[in-house]
Amino acid sequence: MGPELAIITAVSLAGYLIWNHDKNLSKLNKIFKNWGLMAGEALPVFKGKEGVVYKFKLPMGLVFDQMKAKEDAFNESFPFNAVELDFVGGLLHVIIADQLPKMLPFKEDMLKGKWSIPIGQSIRGMIYHDFNKIPHILAAGITRYGKTVWLRLLMLSIILQQPKQSKLVAIDLKGGLSFMDFEKLKQTHCVASDIAESVEALREIADEIKGRQKWFKEKGIQKIQQAGKRQKRVFIIIDEAAQLMSNGRTGKEKLIYRECERLLEYIGQVGGGLGFHLIYCTQYPTTKTLPQQVKANCDAVISFRLRNSTANNVVFDDVGMAEDLPHIPGRAVYQSDRVHEVQVPFVEDDQILELTKDHLKEDHDAPFVSHKDNTPGANTLVIE
Ligand SMILES: Nc1ncnc2c1ncn2[C@@H]1O[C@H](COP(=O)(O)OP(=O)(O)O)[C@@H](O)[C@H]1O
Ligand SMILES: [Mg+2]
Repeated sequence: MGPELAIITAVSLAGYLIWNHDKNLSKLNKIFKNWGLMAGEALPVFKGKEGVVYKFKLPMGLVFDQMKAKEDAFNESFPFNAVELDFVGGLLHVIIADQLPKMLPFKEDMLKGKWSIPIGQSIRGMIYHDFNKIPHILAAGITRYGKTVWLRLLMLSIILQQPKQSKLVAIDLKGGLSFMDFEKLKQTHCVASDIAESVEALREIADEIKGRQKWFKEKGIQKIQQAGKRQKRVFIIIDEAAQLMSNGRTGKEKLIYRECERLLEYIGQVGGGLGFHLIYCTQYPTTKTLPQQVKANCDAVISFRLRNSTANNVVFDDVGMAEDLPHIPGRAVYQSDRVHEVQVPFVEDDQILELTKDHLKEDHDAPFVSHKDNTPGANTLVIE
């Protein structure tokens, strides 16, 4: 019997016994199995300061150098961690480390300009989202893990980097409190805090999109990058978008929610190339709170912890991405052309106040004023 068929025996050490529900351990077992090596049922592990250390006895005939040569393969299987192999006291140590900080204070030098905004630190360095490459972002995650803080970071980054070229429209149906300080800034067109204000703001944006389409045609240009400084970027930021959905509503009321859904779908479908960016957040991603059209047009996703695999599967086409995240506020998975686990920088309210003090509106106490007809169906968007 060659060494590849030998059984790796569980090393009996006093201490923690972690059973098969340990996802790292199941993964290690799978890797060993794929290589024709068998692993024990339950393996003792202990936490060292470098990370979690899993100890294995090497099968007879297999030397450490042969395993060490496979370190890259281990790292590929644990893309968010650093995996190191070591040989100590006759035992193979597989060390799986969470390399990210549990808290990362926001610093201005994290901003790198243009239309790239900082998303968070990954094991490969700071990850940025480039609105020039991917116009819309879908954000998900259960409450208390940092969605609103991330939205505030996004708004701050845009305002500091492109103070003259950006226009922000925020929708927050929890009374608009989350963005009260941003409402006072020149770049913030409005913060809609109820359904009537929301539908009005979205109609206005749809009209603006149509106007811009016309302008593009006249100028003979095809995408916003060609417009230079002549057109602003418009960011439509929706915290808890499920509250705009028509599902579960009845009667006349349903119409206005249905219109919101259609407007969001329209912005997602048509707005991207024209410089209209949708930031669509939802706590409970289901097929009802996340219209198919919106999902299909969001090529970037940031997700904080998700409740379960059903929610995970609605957001990602891959398994176990955001449901397996550690219980750390600000920890998220960001997916664009590749997937990163990130620690989102934490920006304090006072920092925002200080950094944006030059951008205050002259009359910043003016409330949101309605200029248009609010009845359902009025100004209804006609999608040609
Ligand atoms: N990036 C972060 N880093 C560290 N802690 C954070 C971060 N984001 C949020 N938190 C903590 O989590 C709390 C909840 O964040 P919040 O953005 O309000 O969550 P959500 O909008 O998802 O309910 C914050 O008050 C803060 O204490
Ligand atoms: Mg929130």
